[in-house]
Amino acid sequence: MNRCDFTAWEAARRARLHAALDAALPQADAYPARLHAAMRYACEGGKRLRALLVYATGEALGAAPETLDAPAVAVELIHAFSLVHDDLPAMDDDDLRRGRATVHIAYDEGTAILVGDALQALAFTVLASAQTLPATAVLEQLRVLAAASGSQGMTGGQQADLDAEGQTLALADLEQLHAHKTGALMLACVRMAAAAAADADKASRDRLDAFGTAVGLAYQIQDDVLDVEGSTASLGKTAGKDAATGKSTYVRLMGLAQARDRVLHLLRDSERLLEPLDARADPLRALIDRLLRRSS
Ligand code: IPE
Ligand code: IPE
Ligand code: MG
Ligand code: MG
Ligand code: MG
Repeated sequence: MNRCDFTAWEAARRARLHAALDAALPQADAYPARLHAAMRYACEGGKRLRALLVYATGEALGAAPETLDAPAVAVELIHAFSLVHDDLPAMDDDDLRRGRATVHIAYDEGTAILVGDALQALAFTVLASAQTLPATAVLEQLRVLAAASGSQGMTGGQQADLDAEGQTLALADLEQLHAHKTGALMLACVRMAAAAAADADKASRDRLDAFGTAVGLAYQIQDDVLDVEGSTASLGKTAGKDAATGKSTYVRLMGLAQARDRVLHLLRDSERLLEPLDARADPLRALIDRLLRRSS
């Protein structure tokens, strides 16, 4: 797939996502308007990597894009909820997100807490309401996303992240933390996509699990590298904030060069895992290629 084809594919999938997201979110003036306006605000912007991962993985396995809208929207809703809570004063205490004021600054803390609660509930409503897949596939997607969001997934990882502040973790413990706080939702993208593809065999599913795990870990290490390099400062984040607040990161443990090297290796490993897949996996290959070049 050349760059031009990928650009067209991506634009079309983004359009699908945004139409479905807009349809799922209550109107900004619907009662109670403050909450709904803030929910919409929280879902704006973002690179949409998780949604694109759902579409690209599902299509690589032969699923039709219309069967992937619900999981793509659902994972972006959970992700947006996780970011709203991540930014709260009691957690990372950030004023800026996606280049503008965080939800608790633009609105208020109470509203931000409720936005997270409501986005989480909406994610499962969206999945459960989809009419494009058999009920068994929908049930599997619900189970996958719930597990990835809860105490043994993203929320558990956020707790481990809080617990690890100011500590020097062993490498295996740090990777476990990353696998929960960021990896779980990435893996859920891959697994929900596989659930939408009726003809995906066990070997493909296992390979994609390994792929999702590697990409999830690479993505968080990359986020930690970008925090140090200050590349995310253009989005309004404070460069070096992880170090200033004593966050346990790969960079802190292994240094910047080794962290960059680990990202490269993990992404190359994930590319290799896609080799047995046919040309339908080209958008997925192009997404990994983008991560290899990512700078913000
Ligand atoms: C930020 O994720 C938080 C992490 C888990 C690393 P993204 O960098 O994907 O955030 P958006 O959605 O593009 O804003
Ligand atoms: C966020 O990790 C992970 C989740 C929200 C689950 P970070 O705290 O490193 O993300 P940023 O740097 O604020 O985007
Ligand atoms: Mg955090
Ligand atoms: Mg944060
Ligand atoms: Mg970060």
